[in-house]
Formats: sequence, structure tokens, C-alpha cells
Amino acid sequence: MIPAYVLVERVEALPTLPEAVARLSAMLRDESASAADFETAVRPDPAVTANLLRAANSAFDRGMGRVGTVREAVARIGLRRVFEVAIGTSLRRSLPVRIPGYGLDAPSFWLHCTATAVFAEALGREAKLASMEIAFTAGLLHDVGKLIIGQFLAEETPESNWWTFGAIAAERELLGSDHARVGEEIAARWRLPPLIGEVCRWHHEPFAAPGREEIDLAAAVKAADALAYRVGFPGGPRVDESIAPEVEARLGLTVDRMVQLAEASKDEVRRMSDLTSS
Ligand SMILES: [Fe+2]
Ligand SMILES: [Fe+2]
Repeated sequence: MIPAYVLVERVEALPTLPEAVARLSAMLRDESASAADFETAVRPDPAVTANLLRAANSAFDRGMGRVGTVREAVARIGLRRVFEVAIGTSLRRSLPVRIPGYGLDAPSFWLHCTATAVFAEALGREAKLASMEIAFTAGLLHDVGKLIIGQFLAEETPESNWWTFGAIAAERELLGSDHARVGEEIAARWRLPPLIGEVCRWHHEPFAAPGREEIDLAAAVKAADALAYRVGFPGGPRVDESIAPEVEARLGLTVDRMVQLAEASKDEVRRMSDLTSS
């Protein structure tokens, strides 16, 4: 069992997202924010800026001039994509080489996060969810609690037993907490929109979420998570690729249609993962 204060200490020891991302997150909700405001927020971070320009230049080929400033990038790919690339770049940069306890290296973990993000966005769009705008970021962050829970799993159990984890109940039994709860805690400390924290918290049990919007988005992320395992981007040693009929009904999409969407988005997963990895 992890004492609560130890958990808090570890969460606090995680690198915080740069100020730029916190400011972008606030601006996303502020309709009066302009492209110039974004440029001011992002400029101090060269890696984020470089990836934004790459994103904008790779989004449309031929026939359009090259984008050279953050302001032009916002105009070309939109504010939301700018935020997604910024947060992805920051998060990717803060990953340890290996995610202990789950037997994953950073590139595999990142592919899983990115796949869940891309698929959650595709499902959200298809299901016409009100919260579709935030689906990508929620998917990207859904397993962020694994960064902390994995450290404890690695300390408490020999590597030969790591395959048993991934199941939330096993984490709870061994540690008294799980990666979903810790994920919510991290999202709050990073001052992300509350809905993102709720999705981290409920992505394994969406129907326990507190409201309609939370259930919808948590269901989409749960399905996206399962699809990531199905199409080759696993997020842990334990395969969990089932999609419950309740989730199908909630989203109004069949599993077959979801798999089709995921298969069609695999290139986008690799592209977004590459874009945020340098
Ligand atoms: Fe998870
Ligand atoms: Fe996952």
C-alpha cells in the first residue's frame, strides 16, 4: 500500500509542463485570445516552436507556401492543433527512457498515447460528441498516471510479475491506488481543463463518471485505448482490447466501424508521434 503522502511527493517530483502549455491551455478557453498571444506564449520554447512549424508545414503539401512563424502556424493548422502539438512535445520530452512496472520503453508508450489520442479524436468526430475538441488531448494523457504507478510497481514486484499489471484492480490491490486516480491528480497539478482529469480518472470505468459529458468522452477514450491495443500500439503487457456493448451504444458506433476508423488512422498516429518526438 502506498501512503498518500508518498504518492503526492512522487507526483510533485514529476517534471511540470512548461508554463507555455499552461498558458495555451487557458487561452484555448478564451475566445478573445489571438494568434499573437499564442506566439508570445510559445516563443520561449524552441522545441515546441520547431515542432509547430513542422506540423503546419506537413499538414498541407504542395501549393502552399512554407510557414515560418507561430502566428502563421496558428492560421494554417488552427489553435487546437497548436495546443496539441505543444502539449505532446512537452510530455514526450519528460518521459523517462523506460516506463518501469509496465515493461515499456518510452517510444512504445508514446505510440500508445498518441494512438489513443488520434483514435479518440476520430471516434469523437464520428459520434459528434460535444467534447470532441478535447478528445485528442484527453486521449494523449489518459495513461499519464502510469509514470508514477509504474515506479511503485517496479519497487514492489519483481520484473517477472509485471505482466500482471495494466489491470486497474491489480494495481489497487497491490498499491492501494491506480494509474487512473493518479492521472487525475497529475492533470489537476498541471492545471489542465477539468474534463481531461475526469477522463484520466474514468477511462477504465466510463459509466462511473459524474456527468454526461464526462461519460461520453471517457467512453470514447476507453474505446480508443482498446483500439490502440487491437491495431498494434499496446500500452502495457496485459492485452485489453474488449469494447463493451454499452460503449458501442453510448457512441452509436459498432466495433467494426471503430476498428475501420482506427485502421484508417494508423499513418496519422505515426505522423503525430514523430512530430512530437524531437
Ligand atoms: Fe489506462
Ligand atoms: Fe492506455
